[in-house]
Amino acid sequence: MKRTGLLPALIGVIMPCCLHAAPPAGDADMNAFVNHLMNRMTLEEKIGQLNLLSAGFGVTGPEISTDIENKVEHGLAGGVFNVYTPSAVGKLQSLAVNDSRLHIPLLIGFDVIHGHKTIFPIPLGLSCTWNPAAIERSARIAATEATADGVNWTFSPMVDICRDPRWGRIAEGAGEDPYLGAQIARAMVRGYQGDDLARSNTLMACVKHFALYGAAEAGRDYNTVDMSRLKAYQYYLPPYQAAVEAGVGSVMTSLNEINGVPASANHWLITDVLRKQWGFNGFVVTDYDAVSEMTDAGMGDLPKDAELAMKAGVDMDMVSETYLKYLSELFTRGEIPESMINQACRRILEAKYKLGLFNDPYRGCTEARARAEILTPENRKAARELAEQSFVLLKNDQQILPLKKSGTIALVGPLADDRQNLLGSWRAAGDWRRAVSVEAGISNAVGSAVTVLHAKGANLIDDPALRATLKAFGEDIPVDSRSPQQMLSEAVAVASNADTVVAVLGESSGMTGEAASRSHIGLPECQQKLLRALVKTGKPVVLVLMNGRPLTLNWEAEHCGAILETWFGGTEAGNAIADVLFGDYDPSGKLTATFPRDVGQIPIYYNHKNTGRPYAGDPGYKYVSRYLDVSNNPLYPFGYGLSYTTFSYGNVELSQTNLTGDETLLASVDVTNTGQYASEETVQLYVSQPAASVTRSVEDLRGFQKVPLQPGETRKVTFRITPEDLKFYNPELEYDWEPGTFIIHIGGSSSQLKSAPLIWNRQAVPAQSE
Ligand code: NOJ
Repeated sequence: MKRTGLLPALIGVIMPCCLHAAPPAGDADMNAFVNHLMNRMTLEEKIGQLNLLSAGFGVTGPEISTDIENKVEHGLAGGVFNVYTPSAVGKLQSLAVNDSRLHIPLLIGFDVIHGHKTIFPIPLGLSCTWNPAAIERSARIAATEATADGVNWTFSPMVDICRDPRWGRIAEGAGEDPYLGAQIARAMVRGYQGDDLARSNTLMACVKHFALYGAAEAGRDYNTVDMSRLKAYQYYLPPYQAAVEAGVGSVMTSLNEINGVPASANHWLITDVLRKQWGFNGFVVTDYDAVSEMTDAGMGDLPKDAELAMKAGVDMDMVSETYLKYLSELFTRGEIPESMINQACRRILEAKYKLGLFNDPYRGCTEARARAEILTPENRKAARELAEQSFVLLKNDQQILPLKKSGTIALVGPLADDRQNLLGSWRAAGDWRRAVSVEAGISNAVGSAVTVLHAKGANLIDDPALRATLKAFGEDIPVDSRSPQQMLSEAVAVASNADTVVAVLGESSGMTGEAASRSHIGLPECQQKLLRALVKTGKPVVLVLMNGRPLTLNWEAEHCGAILETWFGGTEAGNAIADVLFGDYDPSGKLTATFPRDVGQIPIYYNHKNTGRPYAGDPGYKYVSRYLDVSNNPLYPFGYGLSYTTFSYGNVELSQTNLTGDETLLASVDVTNTGQYASEETVQLYVSQPAASVTRSVEDLRGFQKVPLQPGETRKVTFRITPEDLKFYNPELEYDWEPGTFIIHIGGSSSQLKSAPLIWNRQAVPAQSE
């Protein structure tokens, strides 16, 4: 083992690892340390720090990096991702700290998106809990497991607002609302990073994809984004900003262009907004190959791409190695000043310093720690609780649910006994063999008290071309060798012998997530056929859905007795689904993305504008904003979700109806559990302003509270509202509030609200003299 003997802090590299390294001292020490180190670095070594390589533990982009060990040894990599386990990381880290000239440790990145090995529900599902504290806990657990497995940097949270369920990546975010998205962004950053990045169980977070990636035209992944700045600030940027305010250590640029300029070449976005307006002082990494892909996007050749990215403010180049190849030449030609390269290098070294990597590059990571901290019973318990909370009961006619723990159930569908899809499209290091299927969950819950008859009924997908595409993505969709008719007949026979049918249907996980846009967002046809046949038996049908996006479900909503949306519920999905089906947990999830009736309604979202010709429900009146062939309303709106119990809302009571300046308004409502089950209601607060200098949404979410209620219990739920909650971006892009009339709405869904108006002025209005 070599010693530098020159940099005092680097001597720590060769000392035995301690589990909680001493936190790094203040900024002055960090600056002194980084200055000292950079003074010894060649230009090539500085550029090396800006290079991020992808190893092959997961394939998350078009290519895998080559010659990784050699590059690490020669100081030509600042980090490696798609690698984990104490031994694999230890080997790479040891090459960096023992064999490279300056012994600089590596960032070790991985997509720990909704859990590392204990997998939580997909982020869209997590958001439906409306429970930032629980989501923070899931991120904390993910950080503990991932760091025990050698990772020190995660590419999460993904906070892209999305109003278009054709986009497969809607699964990875928190839905359509900027306020809720911002709360969740903060919670996740806190969960990953804790209050001290140098602790051995904290991960550096990376908020992504900056920016506006969720607004890809026509929902097609990577597609063009063209959006007014006003719309961007009002609806799309708040969650990224919230992550920055929460202290996120890094930001990932997106793969799309914004108003003609790719995100990774976008100086306005990265330097003006992110650094100057929001004060971000961490580092910016691109998404996978985003720098070199600017050539196909139409920006020029590879050296030009590198120049544009560097000048826009990108510090680290993910995989494309464009910086590695061209920055030095660009410097020699005078296109890029050395100060820019120095600045980027400094930011990467600072991140490593903050992570304590110069004290302990292995961050206390050992096989024993990994065994002790990963997939523990407590972690699995948390995953089960979060999964229960993430499910959304969309329909429950005649209280079909909860099911009795007796009688006979027909458990049908290609996802009923599935474990591979339960972990979603970002399973990270998750092992589906450790996941609990619905079938196993039901058996755990009811043992032999319920007779469960099984039939697959249909394949997930019959279309061989789509199956082949999904296989090319690494997903192998198992195919039953029986004919569709044979499978269907078996399912119908089984259903006919049962009291209730539970049909577990949906998308394959590969039909969701990255590069998985769909133009039809219903259930695959073969599954629709199965469902029709099951309904035809006349037995009550409970549809349990697994999917990564809002689906179009008109027929299903009309004909199934109950519909439970379970997304992809993670490692404990099956147990959690059984808990809900049999009433051990009363579902409380609420939608965070609108379910359209028809793809033609997309984009469809609750916080839309009124227009000058709003539709008031009279179909005989022509000149209004509406469709001739479908309602304007969604099938299931934002904020919607049933429980087995029922809730009633009293009228909105306001502490005042005439306010001035910085006063505080208290808005209250009595919420009563009018049903038979103890449950939790998510009480939502929306604010609208009918007249302002820019047109406002019909309503904007500004608060929510989860309230536990016993049967018969009433609670007064109070929201404190200040001018901060009235703010929006005006035509000059200033974030401020404007006096006027406001309407406060409170309720259990964006479309079921009680309302009360008030006036809020900047200053007291002087009394009129006679
Ligand atoms: C591409 C994806 O867009 C991004 O979300 C992910 O973090 C990177 N690949 C790294 O795997």
